[in-house]
Amino acid sequence: MNSSKIIGMGFYVPDNVITNEDLSQKIDTSDEWIQTRSGIKERRWASEEITTFDLAHKASLNAISNAGIDPQDIDMIIVGTLSSDYFFPGVSAQLQESLNLNTIGAFDIKAACSAFIYSLSIADQFIKTGMAKNILVVGAEAQTKLIDKSTKGRDIAVLFGDGAGAAIIQKTNDKSFILSTHLHCEGKNIKNLWMEAPGTSPGSWFENNNFVPERFTPAMNGREVFKNAVKRFPEVINEALVYNKLSIKDIKLIIPHQANFRISQAVANRMNVDMNIVYSNIHKYGNTTAASIPIALTEAIEEGRIIKGDHIILAAFGAGYTWASAAIKW
Ligand code: UT7
Repeated sequence: MNSSKIIGMGFYVPDNVITNEDLSQKIDTSDEWIQTRSGIKERRWASEEITTFDLAHKASLNAISNAGIDPQDIDMIIVGTLSSDYFFPGVSAQLQESLNLNTIGAFDIKAACSAFIYSLSIADQFIKTGMAKNILVVGAEAQTKLIDKSTKGRDIAVLFGDGAGAAIIQKTNDKSFILSTHLHCEGKNIKNLWMEAPGTSPGSWFENNNFVPERFTPAMNGREVFKNAVKRFPEVINEALVYNKLSIKDIKLIIPHQANFRISQAVANRMNVDMNIVYSNIHKYGNTTAASIPIALTEAIEEGRIIKGDHIILAAFGAGYTWASAAIKW
């Protein structure tokens, strides 16, 4: 059977740095609150003219360059995002056009913080079945355009950031490849983390007599999300270990979705592993939803934290709820 491997990664974040201090000038919060509750020191916010597509495009060019591949060899594009430039079609269609990739299949995946692993899993299946050879997989968000940046929205405003990460997934006969992916969803929790509108449910459109502005911004039940995250992350990491007959001691690095440093600490605690095998860059970028894992993976590679032959695990949890893991032999 065919296998697939990641042959190149890249990321891009907007220039506009927003520190905790900047936020506390505008809303009722503090550097101390944000750092102790989340580990975040600063994040990037895309300025008005920068869109999710712009970030995705730049991250893709970096991944293509690092992979050393001719872009014309790419035969599919998958983009994970919840903040596409347009309601429809997806960012993937804009990327296909901007990269000059003549009529190849391109689609978006809306699985929030798990969207990069969901997309990676889909890419892996297409390669395993022989239907594709080189797939561009992207996680990208300019989501801070959607959030309420007043004190009312402070629980969310301080956590989230913008950015994009991209990977080129290629068919391989190598001993290094994506070993497994496991995907989950529990839709009964939709309302614990969602943006209700715009949508097609009653009252979720811009009708004069029915317009509720609060519906048009993300809302989160932070404590519930936190509780579920610290349960599901270890579960899905263990699922990957059991499936691949690996022990946690075989894992060089766990790259979790960067939701909250305290969540990562709690996961390490539950799994009885040292925090030095749990990658974190949340202090610099906050929670970038679908972009957080590919950004973290790119930085981990650049920092020499992953070398050929290492086993790593990617893991995510977020809105839906969705959660997922990928085990990779690098
Ligand atoms: O990507 C996956 C999705 N997201 C997550 O994984 C996030 C999961 N949840 C969390 O990370 C945490 O729940 C938060 C960081 C969002 C909040 O931390 P918490 O320790 O659960 O705080 P809390 O929501 O229980 O709020 C504690 C207090 C409240 O005040 P009272 O009611 O105790 O007076 C909040 O109003 O902190 C207040 N608060 C703030 N204070 C200053 C909430 N947000 C802020 C803020 N600055 N930004």
